Amino acid sequence: MALSSPILLLGHPKLRETAQAIADVTHPSTQALIQRLLNIVQEASGMGLAAPQIGESVRALVMTSKPNARYPHAPQMPPTVLLNPTLVWQTDEQEKGWEGCLSVPHLRGLVSRATAVKVSYEDEQGQLQHAHFQGFLARVFQHEYDHLEGILFIDRVESSRELMAEAEWQIRHGLKKT
Ligand code: NI
Repeated sequence: MALSSPILLLGHPKLRETAQAIADVTHPSTQALIQRLLNIVQEASGMGLAAPQIGESVRALVMTSKPNARYPHAPQMPPTVLLNPTLVWQTDEQEKGWEGCLSVPHLRGLVSRATAVKVSYEDEQGQLQHAHFQGFLARVFQHEYDHLEGILFIDRVESSRELMAEAEWQIRHGLKKT
């Protein structure tokens, strides 16, 4: 990302706030926020982005997924906006996986997450929606939802030995030649 990136970085206090519910998702200010989230997540080639990461402490996140250099095994999911999301159910079973975050550049960490979740949320029109995410997408949802609670993935890494520099991670996962 360029220096003009609007994404807040680790250390910014707004990343640590509990985000507020959105009263009226159809309000023009919310619609403008949705568009910014969609634009920025695509510019940054991210899998997800939460409103607090762009300085808006409200309960909005976007998820999108397709295979790319950083996540070669990612499934296809068109950009989806989840407003006032709630975690309805999650598996007891957890699995560890490597995560990164646009607000924590150049770092990867191993994080335990539920392997599947059921969620509900409001869409851009204010309609209540339900979704069931498994595996990678369940991980993305849980990561983005954490942002609404002021939690970053590094908080969930069990040991500093389970942190890696992004460049080293890419080499060790065969994405980059040494
Ligand atoms: Ni993140």
